[in-house]
Amino acid sequence: MPEKIFVFDTTLRDGEQSPGCSMNLDEKIEMARQLDRLGVDILEAGFPIASQGDFDAVRLIAAEIRRPIIAALARASELDIKRAWEALQEAARPRIHTFLATSDIHLQFKLRKTREEILKQISFAVGLAKSFCPDVEFSPEDAGRTDRNYLIECCHAAVEAGASTLNLPDTVGYCLEPEYEKMFADVKARVPGMERVILSTHTHDDLGMAVANTLAGIRGGARQVECTINGIGERAGNAALEEIVMAVHVRRDVLPIFTNIHTEELYASSQMLTRLTGVAVQRNKAIVGRNAFAHEAGIHQDGVLKNAITYEIITPQTVGMPSNQIVLGKHSGRHALVKRFEELGYQLTKPEIERAYEQFCRLADRKKNIYDEDLLVLVNEGFKDIPEMFSLKLFQTVSSTEGRATATVELEKEGEMFHDSATADGPCDAAFRAIDRITGIPGTVVDFSVHTVGPGTDGVAEVSVRARFEGKEFSGKSTSHNVVEAAARAYLMSANKAAYELKRAHLSASAAGSVHENEFVDRFFPGGY
Ligand code: KIV
Ligand code: ZN
Repeated sequence: MPEKIFVFDTTLRDGEQSPGCSMNLDEKIEMARQLDRLGVDILEAGFPIASQGDFDAVRLIAAEIRRPIIAALARASELDIKRAWEALQEAARPRIHTFLATSDIHLQFKLRKTREEILKQISFAVGLAKSFCPDVEFSPEDAGRTDRNYLIECCHAAVEAGASTLNLPDTVGYCLEPEYEKMFADVKARVPGMERVILSTHTHDDLGMAVANTLAGIRGGARQVECTINGIGERAGNAALEEIVMAVHVRRDVLPIFTNIHTEELYASSQMLTRLTGVAVQRNKAIVGRNAFAHEAGIHQDGVLKNAITYEIITPQTVGMPSNQIVLGKHSGRHALVKRFEELGYQLTKPEIERAYEQFCRLADRKKNIYDEDLLVLVNEGFKDIPEMFSLKLFQTVSSTEGRATATVELEKEGEMFHDSATADGPCDAAFRAIDRITGIPGTVVDFSVHTVGPGTDGVAEVSVRARFEGKEFSGKSTSHNVVEAAARAYLMSANKAAYELKRAHLSASAAGSVHENEFVDRFFPGGY
């Protein structure tokens, strides 16, 4: 009888804390809803003690998302555990996930504590968490480099104190498959009381072996896997959820296990994360990369045309990836557009349909063939985002091989027009500076990438921008036939997010009586907000 593997998603915790992947509150909630649709069993929503933003995200996700278990991370300390429990108050199914490093390297250089002290701390922390919450997970951080006998003692202490899940992290992505498998087999065989405990994998990809190690952990007895969408996470990332799930799905002939993940939601989850963070996956990324189902070599194309099974072990439909067929053009109506969106997994509301149709008509005027990828860009681009404070009305650049470039932009805010110009070394930078002059929130671009969307010479450029405003990073994404226009729109989207965040921070500060209204308005919104 195949056994179920519980999928513990940590995109919003281990994933989100990695450089370039941070999300604001609304973005985290949107992603949490998608993870719920995807069918994850446990959703780690954040690390409440880390910041007020993390606390709020866990609290709001716990209040809204009712099906999966909602986990909150806490170090093995009283303050952390109490804060995590506070954030989980409204959860239907809360879990406190507490951790403490157990390798000698961490004990000696990071914690400066003895093995005995650590054992006591584990018993205390797990016991305290258990006194609040019936579902407690314990992770001996850096388990992969922990002395085996000592690891068994630590796991024993955690189980005795009430942990119902034991997660054995390969924190630094160091283990080889047989080592990782054996660690699970040892803990399962040697820790008393393991029949009441679920073992869990948590692997990092420093040596490119995170997914292989996850499968090795399952062979060793793990029944929970910790992973992230697109494999985002510390350094080289965590094990990619979509890769684990599809390996289990495709090789069910030899793996007596299954997950409850809705595989047809994998592509949408990956796309959403890319849109929210601005961090795109590489073309050849397994399962969700643009080339994952593209057959280029003549021999391969010939084989696939004769029978797809020759070179395709997964169909694009299984992971919800739209096929590349031409679907719509200039003469397609609203009805056809709505139907196609439904096939792509989007149930749009009336205002969203109107907005999508308007954007579709604009695109169809410039582009003969509209592909599924174009539609996904349309749907992902605008209407699920935060309100636009400034919208781009007019844009013009002049550049040459010699000298500097000039950009002029006109932005609208609540019916009022603002225009300004700026010069810089290149046309994109000039456009960004002109935008800054109007919004009053100068940004620094920290990441900039351009991709083409859709096949053929009429493909549009998709530009992703990540920019830092007031010490915080925000992402934006846009598409156009004109690369500079797409860059300006993407930058403006990130500036709009920054303005929205600043406005929200200001409103809560002024509610607490600590900011003078005009001071804020004068500084960021010369025209008022
Ligand atoms: O990699 C790690 O060890 C972690 C723990 C906090 C579980 O992320
Ligand atoms: Zn980790």
